[in-house]
Amino acid sequence: MAPRHRVFVTRVIPEAGLKQIQEQCHAEIWPDPLPPPHDVLREKVANCDGLVSLLTDRIDAALLDAAPQLKVVSNYAVGFNNIEIKAATARGICVGNTPGVLTDATADMAFCLLIGAARRLVEGHQYTLSGQWKTWEPLGHLGQDLVGRTLGIVGMGRIGYALAKRCRGWEMKILYHDVHRNEHAEKDLGATSVGFDQLLAESDFISVHTDLNDATRGLFNEKRFKQMKPTAIFINTARGPIVDQKALYNALKAGTIFAAGLDVTDPEPPALDEPLLRLPNIIIAPHIASATVGTRNAMADICARNLLAGLNGQDLPAWVNPEVASTRRR
Ligand code: GLV
Ligand code: GLV
Repeated sequence: MAPRHRVFVTRVIPEAGLKQIQEQCHAEIWPDPLPPPHDVLREKVANCDGLVSLLTDRIDAALLDAAPQLKVVSNYAVGFNNIEIKAATARGICVGNTPGVLTDATADMAFCLLIGAARRLVEGHQYTLSGQWKTWEPLGHLGQDLVGRTLGIVGMGRIGYALAKRCRGWEMKILYHDVHRNEHAEKDLGATSVGFDQLLAESDFISVHTDLNDATRGLFNEKRFKQMKPTAIFINTARGPIVDQKALYNALKAGTIFAAGLDVTDPEPPALDEPLLRLPNIIIAPHIASATVGTRNAMADICARNLLAGLNGQDLPAWVNPEVASTRRR
């Protein structure tokens, strides 16, 4: 019998994936709640055939060079900005991710932040807990209506579409901005493709669903917040560095926009002296959009199947760099 593949798993992931991996591989699983330090990870992958990584693990060229046998990196996330994909491809290493299964959970979180920020829910909760609630206030806690307003989606992929679909239930008009046309969104949801300037000027809710790359890093800056309505609500469930956080702070503080809901920050976690944490008109969740039992199980399953396919020379079910097929390590 051929020796079993050696793999390193950088955190405990759900049984739905871990079991498949442990049955078929010689697996070492990092037991700590915090990620392995970069130098430890380098040592761990030195004799591995496969790696299961998280978005908190930086998989760069130097790390890949320290793993001469590595055939596959299976990222337990849909986003893969933590991995230098070109470097992996150049070394014949397959990369997998977990698209599709977290679309609904992530869109639910975006909608949750949207409605929570619009109705000042967390601020109200704090108000109750701190004993400030004295009476019913005709002019207190006023938020924004949702029905019939305009949603602007920046990045109309699967998650953007799923949020737009939810908001159609609230009779919202859907605008989107993307490098690609999304004909499904136009046909099914009546979404209209518009320029970025128009989207910012006309939307009541602006939600980001792009990946993080050189074109989107810092995309939401001072100029962009100034183009939004003073009643606008800004939602980010994608990646923190897409937003200039200082500019967001200034916009929220000055009332340039009404409120924001974030599931991602830059860095993660935010520093305790991050000024955004002191604002009343923001909700910040700790990067939990995919955190439901069912979604995390489904992610673990795809992640394991990507890993095993990568080890066995098969097509990965969710393959980030299929262009590596003819040059992959065997
Ligand atoms: C989470 O942010 C993911 O990319 O899956
Ligand atoms: C991510 O999975 C997206 O396509 O939005």
